[in-house]
Amino acid sequence: MKRTAIVGTGSFLPEHIMTNFDIEKFLDTTDEWIFTRTGIKERRIADKNEATSDLCKVASERALDAAGMKAGDIDLLILATITPDTHCPAGSNWLESKLGCTNAVSFDVTAACSGFVFALHVADNLIKAGANKKALVVAGEIMSRVVNWKERESCILWGDGAGAAVVTESDAGAQVLSTHIHTDGPGGETLLMPGGGSKTTPISYESVDKGLHYLKMIEANKSFKVAVTRFAEACEEAVAFNGHTIEDVDLIIPHQANLRILQGMAKKLAVPIEKVYMTIEKYGNISSATVPIALDEAVRDGSIKKGSLVLLTAFGGGLTWGSSLVRW
Ligand code: UT7
Repeated sequence: MKRTAIVGTGSFLPEHIMTNFDIEKFLDTTDEWIFTRTGIKERRIADKNEATSDLCKVASERALDAAGMKAGDIDLLILATITPDTHCPAGSNWLESKLGCTNAVSFDVTAACSGFVFALHVADNLIKAGANKKALVVAGEIMSRVVNWKERESCILWGDGAGAAVVTESDAGAQVLSTHIHTDGPGGETLLMPGGGSKTTPISYESVDKGLHYLKMIEANKSFKVAVTRFAEACEEAVAFNGHTIEDVDLIIPHQANLRILQGMAKKLAVPIEKVYMTIEKYGNISSATVPIALDEAVRDGSIKKGSLVLLTAFGGGLTWGSSLVRW
């Protein structure tokens, strides 16, 4: 059986910081409400000239540098995003071009906030099957362009950024022990962008006037409870699959949906909250990109050490959820 490893990680956050106090200036909300309900203090906002592929390019170059590789070495480029530069060509095709990945095939994976875990699953399995050898798995979002800045229930959650990991066939490096992905199509109605697709609402003056192109959260407090359950299930699945228990895990790197969701997950799993890596206070929810950004920061700040057992987990629109266990 071939083995796959994460041999380099990278991330990029736009420079501009939008604090809760900045949001207070144009929306009926407070820093106190946002922080106590979500754990978020600030988020990054992309410059108007930056596209998702620009953020991903820097994150990817940092991951390639960490791996000691060049863009031309990559034979598979997968981009997880719900905010591609354009829907056609795919966001990954723009990124392939900007990076100069001349030997890679590139395509997008759309699984909302679970996107990175889904993309890692695809790369891991293609490498284990022998179809590819050197993959760049990237997730990037400019959520600030798809949220309705007049909708206080949801816009306060999101931010922009990108993360990447180089995943290769290798016995050395951080071993990807397993990946697990799940969906619940019927549940997808609760977190969606209703307009702009081929459904009954293609882009029109009317659909834009109604704001149907924006991300909508319907009964977000219900998905809050589902998220806690699915995060915990996904974690348990990955550790059990590998003959471990949750106590063996050194660090959980979850999608940063809401601090209270992550506290609920930790409680359900009976793990100390210190084992759950957090970036939510400074970056908010960057959909698919939160997991690889948090992973990269944990690698670089020494939270992940040689030998660490690291559990990645995510939940998001689709509904989608999943996990991956990695031995560093
Ligand atoms: O990443 C994908 C997965 N993420 C999710 O599925 C999101 C999960 N949901 C959540 O994170 C939380 O449900 C929210 C942060 C979206 C909302 O927090 P909540 O504690 O569930 O609040 P709520 O929706 O129950 O609203 C409570 C109150 C309402 O007022 P009333 O009806 O009690 O008078 C809202 O109108 O808070 C009000 N409210 C606000 N007040 C000030 C809602 N948004 C705001 C706001 N500022 N920004």
